[in-house]
Amino acid sequence: MATSQAERARPLHFHALPLLTMDVGSFADVPQDLLKEIETLEGLFTTDTEKLKQITEQFEKELTKGLSVEGGSIPMNPTWVMSYPTGYETGTYLALDMGGTNLRVCQITLTEAKSEFDIIQSKYRMPEELKTGEADELWEYIADCLMQFLETHHGDTSKLEKLPLGFTFSYPATQNYVDEGILQRWTKGFDIAGVEGHNVVPMFEAALAARGVPIKLSALINDTTGTLIASAYTDTKMKIGCIFGTGCNAAYMEDCGSIPKLAHLNLPPETPMAINCEWGAFDNEHKVLPRTPYDVTIDKDSPRPGQQAFEKMIAGLYLGEIFRLVMVDLHDNRDTHIFANQDISKLRKAYSLDSSFLSAIEEFVLPSAPDPFENLSETAELFQNKLDIRPSLPELELIRRTAELIGTRAARLSACGVAAISKKKGYETCHVGADGSVFNKYPQFKARGAAALREILDWPEKSDPKEDDPIEILAAEDGSGVGAALIAALTLQRVKDGNMHGILHPENFV
Ligand code: BGC
Repeated sequence: MATSQAERARPLHFHALPLLTMDVGSFADVPQDLLKEIETLEGLFTTDTEKLKQITEQFEKELTKGLSVEGGSIPMNPTWVMSYPTGYETGTYLALDMGGTNLRVCQITLTEAKSEFDIIQSKYRMPEELKTGEADELWEYIADCLMQFLETHHGDTSKLEKLPLGFTFSYPATQNYVDEGILQRWTKGFDIAGVEGHNVVPMFEAALAARGVPIKLSALINDTTGTLIASAYTDTKMKIGCIFGTGCNAAYMEDCGSIPKLAHLNLPPETPMAINCEWGAFDNEHKVLPRTPYDVTIDKDSPRPGQQAFEKMIAGLYLGEIFRLVMVDLHDNRDTHIFANQDISKLRKAYSLDSSFLSAIEEFVLPSAPDPFENLSETAELFQNKLDIRPSLPELELIRRTAELIGTRAARLSACGVAAISKKKGYETCHVGADGSVFNKYPQFKARGAAALREILDWPEKSDPKEDDPIEILAAEDGSGVGAALIAALTLQRVKDGNMHGILHPENFV
């Protein structure tokens, strides 16, 4: 298999391990076996340049298909965000982000000064039971958090005038109207009955009304659209917003003339329309992504088998689980039987390792560390503390390489999505705003993604390492706070200007 530059950047140092310090007498053949396993894993997880180009080509076709009347596997949901911000938006807005781990409520004031804002915020824990519980409990909990926020920051809410709210609901939802969001399916491990296929807006509004929460919903947004708009508020080169976190997805601005599924609305062809791609669903029909047996297991055991094929290979929710499945397989089924004679019951628990576990392993062996191999002892501690497993030194090397393979594959596949949107739109240079725990915290995710983008788009090697890449993936502004406020502001402004496209309940926008 051809090995790309990025893949070669961290060579195998297996021979460099101080095997002499180990008791090799009883398992002298282990290193050879492990080496074979590492090679097998490399074969499974490596994505060479050719493969990335092939994926990108298919991705671009699927983006276009998703905009067609018949549709494809990528939903390509129009969001009714119909302009970039100017930087001169003003006003006070609430923003609610129903994320996977937290519920965040913010109050954002877009000030008179260009591209500036003030923000106050509170975070509430998103109880794990709610994610698979009853729909009513979810909406009631959210309404309670909002009320608590208002009481804390505004005191007596009975006299409060209704504040406009941008609600970041980061799940695939079709929006035939601005003020409508029909949940296509839960993602990211949520599984609440009675919401899929339904409009979430009336459910949410009913909970607000029942508690008398003085809020009017002005925009239902996806975190990627929020990221795009928040980033474009301060940087006009921003053309794509991405999330690489618990889930993964992107949004970009399309022209209405290139969205055949909206043709019946006769919108002016040059009018922009932000599209929430929901690209996690790319290749649900398994045509092009190089799936491993571990990816097949993840899918089979997930609440929604057959969905989110791309996301399940990339997003933070799954990276630790892929790693765990590899480890269990190597213990149970392969000739090597890693962690032999040890109790691996903790490792057997599904989803017990999250992506921060992999981040930590990769962090310890960053090439910048004084001696990356010395630092395997930190990984040993991690295994001991979290899993009660004491890996041997060669096993630690296998662990490190496995983490690196999984993390690298995620970053490289992510780049295919960014490259596909850029190619579709003909962007030769632009900025991409990215957010999410994997993007922000996973060691080398950015550098690996940038290297993959260079390979896919055939950019020449840089003559000066400080030179910017033509398309740069940069840390985004706060999409679900500032982005949500901006989208609420843009929507209210356009209604004021008489652009009523996609507005179902005009009374909510005055
Ligand atoms: C959801 C998207 C979201 C992404 C990142 C995915 O699971 O379907 O709507 O943008 O996660 O949060």
